[in-house]
Amino acid sequence: MGTKTVMAKEKRTLKTIDFRKYPLPRIRHHTNPNFYLPKSRLKVDLSFYPPVLETVDWSEHFANAQPPNVLDVGCGLGKFLLEYALNFPEDNILGVEVRPFVVQWLQNIIATEGIGNAAVFWYSVANGLGFLESESIDKLFYLFPDPWFKKRHFKRRAFTPDFVRECARVLKPTGRMYIMTDVPQVDEYHREILDATQLLEYRYVDETEWDVPIVTNQEEICRNNQIPYVRMICTKRASS
Ligand SMILES: C[S@@+](CC[C@H](N)C(=O)[O-])C[C@H]1O[C@@H](n2cnc3c(N)ncnc32)[C@H](O)[C@@H]1O
Repeated sequence: MGTKTVMAKEKRTLKTIDFRKYPLPRIRHHTNPNFYLPKSRLKVDLSFYPPVLETVDWSEHFANAQPPNVLDVGCGLGKFLLEYALNFPEDNILGVEVRPFVVQWLQNIIATEGIGNAAVFWYSVANGLGFLESESIDKLFYLFPDPWFKKRHFKRRAFTPDFVRECARVLKPTGRMYIMTDVPQVDEYHREILDATQLLEYRYVDETEWDVPIVTNQEEICRNNQIPYVRMICTKRASS
């Protein structure tokens, strides 16, 4: 009688990636200040600016040719993005990131490791999320945004009323936006905009209610240095 051996498929984790193959390029903390502003409002030479995407052929980016249902805004070095993709193979996660060398580095890892449900775009969310269908996103992560402490730099913060409108548009009715920050002024600023726009309801949650068991690069720094941070979950208001 023939026996069939079913080989258990090895679960891939971040630890199974040999990061020595991917030395980090020299990465600056920030990039060209114009990249944080919408392209339409700039009056300077824009030959080098993240492409403002309108439509995307998803078959070029995800193995199942489907659009993303999870978005990681400002994915940075992508620990969260890669780990999410490996842990939730049924989801397609898209990272958008404004620093080009970080994006190239991550794109190389994704391609070389064959992570078919993760993609990263060089993109500035200051230009909205027009390349995403309305009501297509289950989870939208906005984790540890750049704080931009000086008042004259506030305009570089990605969290604007227009951005919140776009988030509310792309979230499914049951979708959730996850926000984390370790900067109290930024937290207050988020609340002001959420209160003014009235599109998303928010509540602060603790670790037990944060249903995504993955830690970001910045969160790891906070944990290692005992820096407190807040977690907020936003859901769509019935009227939005
Ligand atoms: C402090 S890092 C946090 C990275 C990551 N989410 C984490 O928690 O480790 C913020 C990231 O947002 C990116 N970012 C800032 N403004 C952006 C924008 N307008 N569009 C896309 N990414 C942006 C920055 O380049 C940076 O990588």
